[in-house]
Amino acid sequence: MAESRQLRVGLIGFGLWGPHYARILAGTMGSARLAACAEPAAARLAACAEPAAARLAAFERQYPAARAYADYNRLLRDGDVDAVIVATPTSTHREVVERCLKAGVHVLVEKPLAGTVADAEALAALEKETGRVLMVGHTFLFNSAVRAIKGYIDDGLLGEIRYLYFTRTGLGPIRQDVNALWDLAPHDFSMLRYWLGSDPIDLVARGQSFLKPDTEDVVFVTLSYPDRVLASVHVSWLDPVKVRSVTVVGDRKMVVFDDTHPTEKLRIYDKGADYQPREGGFAEFIAAVRDGDIVIPRLDQREPLREQLEHFVDCIITGRRPIASADDGVAVVKVLERAQRELRAASSSRLGMA
Ligand SMILES: NC(=O)c1ccc[n+]([C@@H]2O[C@H](COP(=O)([O-])OP(=O)(O)OC[C@H]3O[C@@H](n4cnc5c(N)ncnc54)[C@H](O)[C@@H]3O)[C@@H](O)[C@H]2O)c1
Repeated sequence: MAESRQLRVGLIGFGLWGPHYARILAGTMGSARLAACAEPAAARLAACAEPAAARLAAFERQYPAARAYADYNRLLRDGDVDAVIVATPTSTHREVVERCLKAGVHVLVEKPLAGTVADAEALAALEKETGRVLMVGHTFLFNSAVRAIKGYIDDGLLGEIRYLYFTRTGLGPIRQDVNALWDLAPHDFSMLRYWLGSDPIDLVARGQSFLKPDTEDVVFVTLSYPDRVLASVHVSWLDPVKVRSVTVVGDRKMVVFDDTHPTEKLRIYDKGADYQPREGGFAEFIAAVRDGDIVIPRLDQREPLREQLEHFVDCIITGRRPIASADDGVAVVKVLERAQRELRAASSSRLGMA
């Protein structure tokens, strides 16, 4: 493959999450075959920007061939990159992504797109203005189990969707700049949008800040979607058990997705219940329960983050619109902001009652 086609990718932020991108980019990404490209993959780790000296030093030790900068503005000026991955805290996304797009590079920004709807919309507008790719790291859309559930819903295997519930709990990591809602729920809200193809028409949110004032550690959100579909999202970083589970209940079948299971992530239950007319009765109905087989489908074991990165590179090369586009990012931030308003309104009314 011609050297000129190899995309030079810069990484901004080498904290907890950034190193995963560095590993993938510096590993097989440069020689692996991209799913949607006719030729071998075309991306390599060219540079990193990280203001924390010890982390930058760790990056330099691990990736001596890449350039290292304390300031991402210098990476944009001198790093000679075509694209960047922004893996910095949410509170920095607006400023960092804006500068990157204005510098003419393609951007994959970690979730959530930004910390407010106004900032997210400004970035989506800038994407259109600059003609660069702006993709959001809604990683679960690249998870083979989540893709499989999308297929089951679209093909009617589950029947009509009745309700879904998400549990994303564990002990930490406790963040400084956002609460548990903004940290964890973007995953669930992005899956809901992907599966249902719509945004919530209403929601109720309740939470509590136990560790730090005004930073909710535990949040429960109940959402209503068109066609009477209900969803519930429970997030917490103050929980003894790490749970990453989703249940989707349809009127024909039900699915449970356990992302912590190493191999059996999905179980499809042929279970359901109906009211049927009682034989010989007049306007009488009995509940009939169906308790059938449980199927554990075989799934692709590829790492979702690698799939996401390859999709980003593919979108840059082919001009395709990302599955996790800036508009999807805005939609998710709208749900987060709405839920946040509900949390604050509920806590002020509780104070009013005290
Ligand atoms: N998709 C996922 O599953 C997933 C998982 C974890 C984190 N994330 C997201 O990744 C992002 C980063 O999370 P994290 O856990 O790595 O946080 P972190 O705080 O551990 O790391 C962020 C790093 O960015 C650096 N940084 C801050 N400002 C910077 C700037 N202006 N320029 C360059 N670097 C800067 C910090 O020094 C730090 O090293 C967040 O948006 C988070 O939501 C996503």
